[in-house]
Amino acid sequence: MYVETSPPIAPEKVREQLRLDYEEPGSPVFRDPAFMENKQIPVHRWVPWIAGFSASFVEDCFKAFIASPRRKRYTVLDPFAGVGTTIVSALKAGHNAVGFEINPYAALACQAKAAAVALDLADFDDTIARYEYASRNGSRTAEGSKPDGFESRIPFFSPQVEDQVFGFFAFLRTLDASPVADLFKVAFGSVMVSFSNYTYEPSLSTRPGAGKPLIEEADVHGAVLAKLRIMRADTEALQGVAVRKPNPKALIHCMDFMESAKVLKPRSVDLAVTSPPYLNNYHYIRSTRPHLYWLGLLTERSDFRQLEELNVGKYWQTVRGQAPIYLGFEDTELQVVLDEIRETRTDMGVYGGGGWANYAASYFNDSDRFLASLSRSLVDGGTGVIVVGNSIIQGHEIKVEQVLGRIATRHGLELTGIEELRTKRVGASITKSTVRRGEQSNARLYESAVILRRRP
Ligand SMILES: C[S@@+](CC[C@H](N)C(=O)[O-])C[C@H]1O[C@@H](n2cnc3c(N)ncnc32)[C@H](O)[C@@H]1O
Repeated sequence: MYVETSPPIAPEKVREQLRLDYEEPGSPVFRDPAFMENKQIPVHRWVPWIAGFSASFVEDCFKAFIASPRRKRYTVLDPFAGVGTTIVSALKAGHNAVGFEINPYAALACQAKAAAVALDLADFDDTIARYEYASRNGSRTAEGSKPDGFESRIPFFSPQVEDQVFGFFAFLRTLDASPVADLFKVAFGSVMVSFSNYTYEPSLSTRPGAGKPLIEEADVHGAVLAKLRIMRADTEALQGVAVRKPNPKALIHCMDFMESAKVLKPRSVDLAVTSPPYLNNYHYIRSTRPHLYWLGLLTERSDFRQLEELNVGKYWQTVRGQAPIYLGFEDTELQVVLDEIRETRTDMGVYGGGGWANYAASYFNDSDRFLASLSRSLVDGGTGVIVVGNSIIQGHEIKVEQVLGRIATRHGLELTGIEELRTKRVGASITKSTVRRGEQSNARLYESAVILRRRP
């Protein structure tokens, strides 16, 4: 089937369609969509993540697309929930929330934040006090061994640090599985790299490799306790937000959104606000390997491989050596770019254009399945807001937002508009590698919101 390209939609038109009640003429439709802002906002600041947007962006979406928030409880979906920006914002606004996330560490953080809405604060206080007591008296350190299956080029923790880490896990084992135990895991996960011999530069690498010294000594318990105290204060603040009773509900599914038909009723979602992985090969799973293994969320290497397979677009490393992967749908414009990529640097074998074309094709095949599932989940007239970046692969630009818009129209969704949010982005590795070879593209990196509406 040939898909016609819609002409670009003028920003004024998009604004008109969004009908923001607070908007001054000429002001941007969405406030800062970057996660940076989340670092200051209670609850959202617990776990850093490449999030695509901030809580205020989600609030702007509620203002724009939820017609009568006081009369009805809406259902808000995030198919790629990450650490829960959309989910927490929905709960704070009194809406029910549904999230899907394949990374068990992100899903844990998302679940723990959602549970904080109704957490027993006295129980949390009591457990923090017991941990503080234990860490001061006797069980500061413990014997233990690093998790099965976890390998690192240099010791992940230095010996003095590791003994305390084992002390933390000895305490954790005294807790029953509960929302409070989850908060302890999230607190540890969010600070563990800071006292390890690794660092994010921006992907996880050894400190010496990044020119930094090893961390020989650290106060592990002090770091975890400081984080727990922030989480405790934020939880109280969250519970103080006046939301309609009974509390809104959140369902977080640690599973592939493409399988959502198993747990999500068709036509049950009023608004989806999401940011799928970008076409930049960022490896969410590898970056959280220490969290996944140390928190016992992953034990087998085969589980790791399976997560790589489920990730939207797979990864360049997993598809580059495969037989040519073709688009499973027709899109002439995209096909032309993929063919050009495939013909670039053919002398480099799997490291040349063929491998990258395979990655891009598998990304869009997965996006096709994502948009089919999204369309199925939305009520008639329901809205989907998708934040995504463009991409430059082997010197060839792919306007990902426009391709998603075209794919969406094949699945009963109407492309209401594309709004550019940010023009500057940190270059992704695939862009840098192109620059290194001197095949610079004149294109710039930017991010956009693709706004879709389910045709009634
Ligand atoms: C850009 S991040 C979203 C971050 C989110 N907006 C937040 O607030 O944290 C994309 C997320 O999609 C997840 N993901 C990738 N493939 C998935 C799939 N098939 N189903 C569900 N989640 C997936 C990744 O693990 C990653 O956390």
